[in-house]
Amino acid sequence: MKKNFGILPDGTQATLYTITGGGLTATVTDFGAHLVSLFVPDRNGNVDDVVLGYDDANGYLTGNGAYLGATVGRNANRVKGASFMLGDTRIRMSANEGENNLHSGPDGFHLRMWNLVRRGPHFITLNLVSPQGDQGFPGKADIYVTYSLEKDGVLRIRYDGICDRDTVMNMTNHSYFNLAGHHRGEAAMKQELILPGRFFNPDDAENIPTGELRSVDGTPMDFRQPKPIGRDIDCDYDPLHLQAGYDHNWEVFCSPCAILRDPGSGREMAVSTDCPGIQFYAGNFLNETGKGGISYGFREGIALETQFYPDSVHHSEWPQPFVKAGEHYHSETAYKFSW
Ligand code: BGC
Repeated sequence: MKKNFGILPDGTQATLYTITGGGLTATVTDFGAHLVSLFVPDRNGNVDDVVLGYDDANGYLTGNGAYLGATVGRNANRVKGASFMLGDTRIRMSANEGENNLHSGPDGFHLRMWNLVRRGPHFITLNLVSPQGDQGFPGKADIYVTYSLEKDGVLRIRYDGICDRDTVMNMTNHSYFNLAGHHRGEAAMKQELILPGRFFNPDDAENIPTGELRSVDGTPMDFRQPKPIGRDIDCDYDPLHLQAGYDHNWEVFCSPCAILRDPGSGREMAVSTDCPGIQFYAGNFLNETGKGGISYGFREGIALETQFYPDSVHHSEWPQPFVKAGEHYHSETAYKFSW
């Protein structure tokens, strides 16, 4: 199924596609390859939309920059000083957060029109050609994102790409989940989270990793046992003060690398990925008017972004987001729902 999702200021028509499978229904738009909605049953069979989004394509243009449901690339999260060395070449990106680069700059992939490649009842593949020099990155990159709904409640997002020069590929999806339903108007703080990761990246005041990989042991960052997100979020702990709550990268230690549960509805989401890191952002700065005019406020959605560690371009000791010319980039993340 497809429908009109609005006309952009440049006259381009955006489309919203619906896919179904595994007990789930999702909508995805070609504008920014956003995940717009995701309908999941609860333990009583009532279906709710569990991701935050906007009513039409223009909402994604005029929103307050929260990246609701966004496909982020070429490089997710931050680059200190908006510049780094790729081999012998200095790469310069736009500084869009102070001196630093966030989510590849003002011209993010979530603000581009993607092309429909293929779709079926259960999947959709969209393509973007990112030209040489795009966002400061070398090479022309041909990038694909596929959303599929699979048996047993799985939403899988796959990223594929190839570039004609050595470059960076670190794609993620920036959906905010509220397993009680996006429209509940309540913070997701009672929802329980498990993050098996033993280490996280403390950040400086600009949200850039200090380089330390710190053990979660004995800290409010320890989610190895299920814990309501709100339990420790306002604890007296420097990394929480600096980022106004959880907004950090955890190592991906095993599969699943995150489990989110809503005791109220009985919904659960288990995240598995081939990425080395997962950013848990608790919506500390959320302030958007979303689908159906619903206000999404403080901590009303939880982002779990699978990725290379933030600013990994400056840390050769961490897994590296570089791909060689002609090398196939592939990454995927599965979000498995039960209820
Ligand atoms: C970052 C947050 C940021 C959010 C929206 C997340 O990936 O870690 O600091 O506020 O994206 O841009």
